Amino acid sequence: MNQPGPIGVFDSGYGGLTILRSLVKELPEQDFLYLGDNARAPYGPRSFETVHQYTLEAVKWFFERGCHLVVLACNTASAKALRTIQQRDLPGIHPTKRVLGVIRPTTEIIGTMTRTGAVGILGTSGTVNSNSYPIEINHFYPGCRVYQEACPMWVPLIENGEYDKPGADYFVQQHLRHLLSQSGDIDTLLLACTHYPLLIDKIRQYLPPEVQVVTQGDIVARSLRNYLERHTELALHCSRTSTRQFFTTDDPADFERQATRFFGDPVQAAHTEL
Ligand code: DGL
Repeated sequence: MNQPGPIGVFDSGYGGLTILRSLVKELPEQDFLYLGDNARAPYGPRSFETVHQYTLEAVKWFFERGCHLVVLACNTASAKALRTIQQRDLPGIHPTKRVLGVIRPTTEIIGTMTRTGAVGILGTSGTVNSNSYPIEINHFYPGCRVYQEACPMWVPLIENGEYDKPGADYFVQQHLRHLLSQSGDIDTLLLACTHYPLLIDKIRQYLPPEVQVVTQGDIVARSLRNYLERHTELALHCSRTSTRQFFTTDDPADFERQATRFFGDPVQAAHTEL
C-alpha cells in the first residue's frame, strides 16, 4: 500500500488532457494515470452534491490503483468538490494521501499578470456559480476586480468537434461580448475550464489585441513541481518511470480518437467503471 504510485489526473472528460500535456512536459520522469469520466460528462451544469459524489468516486478509484497524489484537472470538480474532499473525506479514507485542484495555483498567480487589476473569468456554469474565482483571487489580491461569464455551450461544442467550425464563432462572440461589457478595464482573460484551450484561436480572433488570454496548463504544472519539491515525503511516494496510462468510463475507441486534439500525442485508452 505504501509502494510508490503514479500521479492521478482527473477530469469529467477530455479537458484534463490539456493540463496533463503540460504536466508531462514539466515533470517528464513522473508516472501519470489519467481518468476521464466521459460517460457522465459534462459536470458543468450538475449540482454540488452530484459533482462531489462523482469526484469522490474517482478519487477512490485512483487510490485503489496506488496513487498517493491526485490532481483534479477540472475547474468544475475543483470548485464544487475539492474542499469537501480535502476537509471531510480524506481524513477518514486516507489521511496521508493528497488531492489538489487547478483553481488555487491559478488564483495565486493571476494578480501578477494584470496591469489594470481587472480580470475576466470564462468557465462552466458550475465554476462561475460557485464564485470560487472571485473569492480566491480577492484572497490573494484584495484590490483585483473579477468579472465572470458562464459559457454553457462551449464544452458541448468542443466535445462534439465543432470548436474550429463556423458554428462556434457565434457562441464565442456572444460570451466574450457579455464578459467585456461588464468592464472596459479587463486586460487579462482566464480560460477557467480545461476544455477551453481548444477554442483559443477563435477567442483571440474576437478580442481586442490588448487583452491577453491565460490558460492553466503551464501554471498548474509549475505549481505541482513546486509542491513536490516542498513535500518530499509525498514526492517519494510518486513513482518515476515516465509511464502514461489513460482510462475512460465511456468507449475507449472514442476516447483515443478525440484525445489527441487535447493531449497533442496519440494515446491508448482502456475502459473502467466507477
Ligand atoms: N473541463 C471541465 C472544467 O475545467 C469542465 C467540463 C464539464 O463541464 O464537464 O471545468
